[in-house]
Amino acid sequence: MCLGILMVDIVGIGCSCYDFLGISSVSPNIDGKIRLDRAISDGGGMVATALVAASRLGASVSYLGPIPGDNIGGLIKKSFDTEGVDTQHCKFDPNAISHISMVMVDTRTAERTIFSSGSREEYFMPQDLEKDVIQNARFLLIDGTYRAATIKACRIAKEFGVTIVLDADDRLANDPDVYDLMGLVDILIPSNRFITRLTKETVSEKAITKLKESISAKIVLTLGKNGCIVFDGNGFSKIPALTVDVIDTTGAGDVFHGAILVGLMHEWDLIQSAKFASAVAALSCTKLGGRAGIPTFGEAMDFLNEYKG
Ligand SMILES: Nc1ncnc2c1ncn2[C@@H]1O[C@H](COP(=O)(O)OP(=O)(O)OP(=O)(O)O)[C@@H](O)[C@H]1O
Ligand SMILES: [Mg+2]
Repeated sequence: MCLGILMVDIVGIGCSCYDFLGISSVSPNIDGKIRLDRAISDGGGMVATALVAASRLGASVSYLGPIPGDNIGGLIKKSFDTEGVDTQHCKFDPNAISHISMVMVDTRTAERTIFSSGSREEYFMPQDLEKDVIQNARFLLIDGTYRAATIKACRIAKEFGVTIVLDADDRLANDPDVYDLMGLVDILIPSNRFITRLTKETVSEKAITKLKESISAKIVLTLGKNGCIVFDGNGFSKIPALTVDVIDTTGAGDVFHGAILVGLMHEWDLIQSAKFASAVAALSCTKLGGRAGIPTFGEAMDFLNEYKG
């Protein structure tokens, strides 16, 4: 239900879930039982965590999507409220079932394996969208979830000059409509798994060049601990990841997306924004969970200014 016209910096429509994370140095065996060193639970999801990051970094943000009426939906909502993510344009659905992720983090590599239940397209449809909140925003962040509503949101954004940014993860690589979706966006920020699977190119620059034959968007390709590559139309800029004591890389990509939008919001160019996002994402890797390590704007700037490499 809309309580009035809201003006926010970033609106996001896409994946919001609840994560249960455990950390252990033992690899799972079928039919085995593992004692975790530590376990936590927190809100998660690509667009949802990006919005939380942007909010903590000072942006005003609004999430568009379903909030299920089950117990987990209550936790998802509480987490949005705590983090200052507006939910007044969400669809509160007593019959929807929450998207849950179980994340197993390996202490030896800080890498994670995710088991995820997913959401349903019909939980958030084009008629559930409110135009005002999109037309008044500066950025629209999408991840391909709730596709029909997302396409409508993109059309509104285009009409009103709102910059559209797509987080493309590997599950989108097999999507038959992925090129149509990419054709709508201004900035594409894919993961390495996505671009490799889509283009069949393992050399990043070649994969970007191949993708650029079909789309006009600027591209920032994220490469995990190998940093990212910015292609802004004037060539490739490689930005290394920042070295930190990594505990858990869960959500680093989501946080990167939220942070790069905050950089752009400050009118920085794409390269400077990507450097800022790299620092924010690196800091997010120093704590267990996708959100616990997200810094404030001041903490991120101090880290960047003091960073010696
Ligand atoms: N181990 C790491 N150390 C420092 N920075 C990291 C590390 N892993 C990721 N990052 C930063 O986070 C950015 C995004 O990470 P990544 O490419 O893994 O995203 P992703 O593949 O979308 O994963 P996810 O969304 O599941 O977190 C990287 O470009 C890098 O700047
Ligand atoms: Mg990602």
